[in-house]
Amino acid sequence: SKIGVIFDLDGVIVDTAKYHYLAWKNLADSLDFEFTEAHNELLKGVSRVRSLEILLDIGKVQLSEQKKQEILISKNEEYLGYIMKMNTDEILPGAEKLLNTLDDLGVNYVLGSASKNAELILKQVGLYHRFFGIVDGNAVSKAKPDPEVFLIGAKKLNLLPESCIVFEDAIAGIEAANKANMTSVGIGDKETLKEADFNFNSLIEIPEDFFSRFLSEKIK
Ligand code: BG6
Ligand code: MG
Repeated sequence: SKIGVIFDLDGVIVDTAKYHYLAWKNLADSLDFEFTEAHNELLKGVSRVRSLEILLDIGKVQLSEQKKQEILISKNEEYLGYIMKMNTDEILPGAEKLLNTLDDLGVNYVLGSASKNAELILKQVGLYHRFFGIVDGNAVSKAKPDPEVFLIGAKKLNLLPESCIVFEDAIAGIEAANKANMTSVGIGDKETLKEADFNFNSLIEIPEDFFSRFLSEKIK
C-alpha cells in the first residue's frame, strides 16, 4: 500500500494511561506532593525514566540514583499488576473497527510505543497478532518527542515518513510525528493536542472515508 499507519498504544489502542497515572500518583503521595491529571499529561508518551524525572521535578524532590532505580522497579511492578488483569474489554472504543477498516483497505499498520510493556499489553487484549510490526520502548534509544520510534516504524512499513499517518494521544507523540514529517492525528483533547494535523476526541469519531483522501493523493 502507498500509505501506512503507526499507532501509539497507551491512550490510543488501550486505556492504560489511567494505570500509569495511578502508579505515579501513588508514588507522589508517598513522597508527599500533589500530582494532578494536568501534571500527568506531561508524562504521557514519555519514557519510564524520563517520566520519573519530570515527576520529581514537579514535586521538587531530589533522590539518589539508587533510590530512583528502586522506584522505577516498584512503579513498574505496580503497573504490571494492573496490566495482568487487562482483557479485551479495555480496548478503546473504535480501535478494532479502525483496524478492520485498514485491513479491508489493505493498509499496513505498526505499533510505535514508548512502552517496554507494549507486547505484553497487546497480548493481554488479543491484538498482538494483528500488527505488521512492533516498535516499542525496547527498540529505541531516544524517547518521544524524538522521532526515532516513528522513523523505525516507517522502515518496518517500507514507506517514506511522509506516507505515514500517526495516531497519538500525547503532546510528546504529536511532536515526534511532526518532526518525522508524518501526518499526525491527535486523539483526545484538541486544545492539548493543538499541534496535530487532525484532531478527534476518540477513534470512534474518525470518519469512514478518512483514509481515502490519503490513498488518492500523496500526503504531506
Ligand atoms: C508510554 C506512556 O506509552 O509508555 C507513558 O504514554 C509511559 O506514560 C511510557 O511512561 C513507558 O511505558 P512503560 O510501560 O515502559 O513504563
Ligand atoms: Mg499514548
